[in-house]
Amino acid sequence: MSVHVSTHPLVRHKQTQLRDIKTDPAAFRALVRELAQLLFFEAAGDLRVEPASVPTPLTTYSGERVAETVGLLPILRAGLGMAGAVLDLLPTAQVWHLGLYRDHQTLKPVTYYNKLPPTPALDLAVVLDPMLATGGSAAAVIDILQQRAIGRIKFIGLIAAPEGVRAMREGFPEVSLHLGAMDSHLNEVGYIIPGLGDAGDRQFGTE
Ligand code: PRP
Ligand code: URA
Repeated sequence: MSVHVSTHPLVRHKQTQLRDIKTDPAAFRALVRELAQLLFFEAAGDLRVEPASVPTPLTTYSGERVAETVGLLPILRAGLGMAGAVLDLLPTAQVWHLGLYRDHQTLKPVTYYNKLPPTPALDLAVVLDPMLATGGSAAAVIDILQQRAIGRIKFIGLIAAPEGVRAMREGFPEVSLHLGAMDSHLNEVGYIIPGLGDAGDRQFGTE
């Protein structure tokens, strides 16, 4: 498995602001968007391109265009804020929403919404979720994708715990992880330490 933790100064700067308890939901959402774009930019470095010529005002330019069908899979709720941002960078991407929440007692994911068709025609699936904690939610989504024969999968997360990365590495070594930061550990109720709290609540102003 490949695990990329961004070392880009802008990512380090913005994820520090994101964690700050004083960052309000509006600023939090803006930072989620910016970080999602920066991480997608890094993750998309191996997208296949094909030749494409365009007329310029002076002549013809022989350039390239992205040749892959990319599907974005934001995990509701917290992944929602990342999807629009990534779609702005790659407007041809398809967006497939998946709704999962963690049961607070068991920490196991509960799927409540799945918009994926049985056989989505995707070359690459990009799962978007700010937090990789136990890894249970990400694993449930990867299972759903693999049942639909989607082979090439990337996961983009803003903050991960080592426990979640380990679970992904053991369960899904073929999935590449693109992360904004790797934190210390999970606390006794499954929150990432130091983390940022609840990514959904902080984006949408709920508790
Ligand atoms: C959060 C987060 C991930 C999940 C990560 O969602 O957005 O989906 O927890 O935890 P895990 O790695 O232990 O599965 P949450 O359950 O809080 O739902 P929400 O986005 O609706 O608030
Ligand atoms: N989900 C969150 O939103 N935050 C955590 O720290 C862990 C899971």
